[in-house]
Amino acid sequence: MHTLVVNGGYAAWRLQALRALRAGWPPSRVTWVEKVSGVRSGSAQMSLDYAAQPVSSDGMRGRAAGHDCDLAHDSDAVCIATVQPATPGTPTQIRISRELATLLQDAALYRSPQRWGLLYRVLWRWEQGDRAVVSAADEDGAALHSMAKAVRRAKHDMQAYVRFHQREAGDGPEYLAWYEPEHDVLAWGAEHFARRMGATSWCIATPQGAALWDGQDITLSEGPVDADAIRASIAAEQIEPLWKIYYQSIFNPARLNESALHQRMPVRFWKNLPEGPLIPGMIADARSGAQRVGQARTVGQRPGRQIAMDAQQAQPQRAMPTTLEACRRCELWRNATHVVPGQGPDSARIMLVGEQPGDQEDLAGRVFVGPAGQVLNETLHRAGFARESLFLTNAVKHFKWIARGKRRLHQTPAQREVDACAHWLHEEIERVRPAVIVTLGATALNAVLGRKVSLQQYRGRPQRVGEAWLVATWHPSYALRVDDAAKREAVIAGMVDAVEQASRLAGERPA
Ligand code: URA
Repeated sequence: MHTLVVNGGYAAWRLQALRALRAGWPPSRVTWVEKVSGVRSGSAQMSLDYAAQPVSSDGMRGRAAGHDCDLAHDSDAVCIATVQPATPGTPTQIRISRELATLLQDAALYRSPQRWGLLYRVLWRWEQGDRAVVSAADEDGAALHSMAKAVRRAKHDMQAYVRFHQREAGDGPEYLAWYEPEHDVLAWGAEHFARRMGATSWCIATPQGAALWDGQDITLSEGPVDADAIRASIAAEQIEPLWKIYYQSIFNPARLNESALHQRMPVRFWKNLPEGPLIPGMIADARSGAQRVGQARTVGQRPGRQIAMDAQQAQPQRAMPTTLEACRRCELWRNATHVVPGQGPDSARIMLVGEQPGDQEDLAGRVFVGPAGQVLNETLHRAGFARESLFLTNAVKHFKWIARGKRRLHQTPAQREVDACAHWLHEEIERVRPAVIVTLGATALNAVLGRKVSLQQYRGRPQRVGEAWLVATWHPSYALRVDDAAKREAVIAGMVDAVEQASRLAGERPA
C-alpha cells in the first residue's frame, strides 16, 4: 500500500497522481491523505494587519495560486503534465481531454476526504484507455460530474453572496467580508473579486481560512479564523441597521414567492447577509396574512399597460438570459463585483432611474449608497419623500470603470451597453408600473425613451411615455462635479423641483 499526501489542493494532487501513475500503482494500492489547516500559512489566526498577515511560501501567493490550469492547449487533447520516467529516456506524456481537465479541477475543490481517491481512479482509468470514465452514466464519472457541479454552484454562490463591509480607516484592508463557502472555492473567489475590485484592498474570511487582497497580490492563509471577531467587526458597521430597515420596508408580503426566494437566496446564506435574519420573521408575517390586506390595496391598483419603447422593440428577445445575474449581453459584468438591480417596493408610484451603479454601489450590490446617493437622499429629504417609498434603479446594472492608481474611475456606459441593459429596465418598469418615471441625467433619459434626446429640452417639461409620466432632471453626481456652491445649490433645487413635480403627477403626497 502506498500513502500519498496532498498538501496544497489540485496542484499538489496532480504531482502525486502523476508520480503514482508513472510508478504504475493502481488506485486500490494507493491511500490518499489530505493535509489541512494552517499548513501553508504558518499561523493559526488570521490578522487584518498586512504586516502580520501570513504569506504562504509554496506558490499560494499571487493570482495564479493553485490554478495553474491544464487548459492552455488549443487542441481537444490537453497535456496534464510531462513526467520524467525514473530512468532516463523519453518523457511520459499523459494527455487528457479538455472536458476531463475541467472536471478534475472543479471536482478537486469539492470538500470531501474521498475526492483525491476518486480523481486518481478516474485518471487511472483514462490512462488505461477507458473513456467511459467521463460519462455521467459511469459510476465514477457520475460522481465526478456531480462533484464538479456542486463546485460550480458554490462558485456561483460565492460570486453572488459575498458582502463586503467597509472598515474604519486604519491598518489592513479597506473592506472585509465573512463568508462560509460550501466547497474549497475561496482561492477561486479571491481571484474573481481581485479582478473586479481593482486596487481596493479587502479580506474575505471563511471558517477554513482567509484571502487577503492588498491591491496587488492575493495572500491565502489556511487555518481557523476568529469568526466572532470578524462578525463583531462587521456588525459594528453603521450601514447594516439602515439596510435592514430598508429591506424590511421594501419586502412585499403580497408578492412573496417562497420557492423563488429560496432558490435565489438559499437559506444557508441568510445568516451572513445583513438582511438574512429578518427573512424568516417576514415570511411568517406574510404567511399569516398580517400585512397582506394592507398591501393588496396597493398592488395591482394601477391598471397601466406596458410602456412602448423603441429600444425594447429593437432588442432580440431570443438572446435574453432569464436572470439579471446571468446576463452576459455586454461585457460590463466582467469587471463588476455585483450586479445591482433596482430596489424599492413594487407598489411604488414613482420610479427614479439613474445611470449605472458607482464604486460603492458595485461593492454593496445596492443602488445609490455612495456620494451620488447622499445627494439624492438630500434631494428626497428636501422634497419630503421617504426614500423607501420610491423605486430606485439604473439604466445599466453593472459598474463601468477604469483603474487610476488605487481608484476605480466611473466611465459613462456606451450606447450599446445601455441598449443591452434596456430589457432589465423595461422589465422593472413593467413590474412596478410607476405613474411617474424620474430620469436622473441624460443616460437615464435616453434609456427610458429608447432614443437620444437633449436633456436640456426635456428638463422641466414632463412628457407622457405610454401610461407613465416622464420627468427629466439632472443626475445627482452633477451637483458633486460643480465647484461653485451657488450652482450646486441650483442643481439640487432643480432636482427637488423635479421630485415635487413627480409627486404631483403621481397624485402622491410626500411621506
Ligand atoms: N449613480 C447612479 O446613477 N446610480 C447609482 O446607483 C449610483 C450612482
